[in-house]
Amino acid sequence: MPILPTHRPRRNRKSQVIRDMVQETRLTAHDFIYPLFLIEGQNQSLEVKSMPGVFRYTADRVIDEVGKAVELGIKSFAPFPSINDSLKDRLARESTNLNGLYLKAVADIKRQFPEVVIMTDVAMDPYSSDGHDGVVDVDSGEILNDASLEVLGQMALAQARAGADIIGPSDMMDGRVAWIRDVLDSNGFANVSIMSYTAKYASAFYGPFRDALDSAPKKGDKKSYQMNPANRREALRELALDEAEGADMVMIKPALSYLDIIREVKDHTNLPVTAYNVSGEYALVKAAALNGWVDGEKTMMEVLMSIKRAGADAILTYFAKDAAEVLRRG
Ligand code: PBG
Repeated sequence: MPILPTHRPRRNRKSQVIRDMVQETRLTAHDFIYPLFLIEGQNQSLEVKSMPGVFRYTADRVIDEVGKAVELGIKSFAPFPSINDSLKDRLARESTNLNGLYLKAVADIKRQFPEVVIMTDVAMDPYSSDGHDGVVDVDSGEILNDASLEVLGQMALAQARAGADIIGPSDMMDGRVAWIRDVLDSNGFANVSIMSYTAKYASAFYGPFRDALDSAPKKGDKKSYQMNPANRREALRELALDEAEGADMVMIKPALSYLDIIREVKDHTNLPVTAYNVSGEYALVKAAALNGWVDGEKTMMEVLMSIKRAGADAILTYFAKDAAEVLRRG
């Protein structure tokens, strides 16, 4: 007689009610941070070619988009600016302009929706004529760490003045969390948080984002500051530094090819862990869905669930609104 199984895990899957009862991970609209692309001008929204369904908004239009998202229960936003070439320079001076596109829009969103949380981006690339996250040495082409800190600190301070709740340094310069913390604290912004891009990899998945902002490096790549995708232990080294430097939350980026890093970091910190489901990850799912090769909605929800299951407490995702709609429907 063959031995029939005494253990039957399928009993816990026998009905929807039981499956719901034992479900380990749940997504909610509170998990999402919604990235927004800003452009100069008025009354325009332009679709990003490589990101179907994602738009770049003028400041007046972004207010409507935030309103729609809030309606769906999304309360956190991460705006990024697409800056006119004429305003770009070596030192990203436009990044501290309180009357410029970015900081005015941030202040405006906060005025219209005081309850929402705005996480601003600290990195030079949208404003840099070199398209790098830090200062480029004119002669050698080297990305200068300590000269960059100076710029990044001023950028963070201007963002705090504009009303940012969370500063998100995405630049990967060494020591920038401590530097920014010090600048914020000594200027009366002790309550402004820092969500550090702790393990940000030099990834091909950022392509569509660079299209959206026209922010690709003019020369070279970002490998001297963003991490090598082959490395896991190095993420823990970055984590230890960001914790020691005073980060309030840590982030892994990208998310999907780095689920192991999310889990690793989660197992080594008591800080909230977030993950950035980046532009290229969005594009892959959308492209396949538009071709009818996968079910776009189900794939989106599975992707987001996997990121949360891996250990992310919150997810930056271009799917925020679509996913919140699915969750609302139940
Ligand atoms: C740059 C920055 C990038 C992203 C967020 N901030 C691109 C890069 O490092 O080149 C990418 C986000 C995405 O791809 O969705 N500071």
